[in-house]
Amino acid sequence: KNIVILASGSGSNAENIIGYFRKKNILHQFHIITNKKDAFVLERAKKLGVTAEIITKKQNDEGVLEKRLLELNPDLIVLAGYLLLFPAGIVQQFPNKIINIHPALLPKYGGKGMYGSFVHEAVVANNETETGISIHYVSELYDEGAVIFQAKTSVAENDTPDDVAQKVHQLEYEHFPKVIEKLLSD
Ligand code: GRF
Repeated sequence: KNIVILASGSGSNAENIIGYFRKKNILHQFHIITNKKDAFVLERAKKLGVTAEIITKKQNDEGVLEKRLLELNPDLIVLAGYLLLFPAGIVQQFPNKIINIHPALLPKYGGKGMYGSFVHEAVVANNETETGISIHYVSELYDEGAVIFQAKTSVAENDTPDDVAQKVHQLEYEHFPKVIEKLLSD
């Protein structure tokens, strides 16, 4: 199958997903799109031997991403740390084919601006006793599509936002590839 992964950050989820299918000798085709010229995910793509390209926010606003995705016509579009709001026009073109991972238990701690360490800081600040990940379909609004999967982890009294981030990353690495595998086999 053809999978396009969109990532803005380090791309550890992208690397983990690609590595998972390679280890199982499942020959999906991956292509990475990032919006940042210096995103570390580009290094990971090179190391992994998968194609990658940069589509900046400006190009995104000019419809380049939509055009590109229609050309690539992927079976699944995976957002893994993609920080731009996904263009509404594309959401309609790929119904139930765009998924995102959010590092919290939606609907809590979701929405614009709630990403990365901001999420974990809020969880700690609110003395939550648990947090986790949410994998959901992408809709026109940040983090509002139907939830496909959630996993939880405990938050200890003395956990720092970094401690929480580590626990959440572990959940991401453990579950995201398996959720994708299941979606592609349905
Ligand atoms: C992850 O925490 C994910 O939940 C969020 O963005 C982060 C991406 O991290 N959407 P990475 O770039 O995959 O390391």
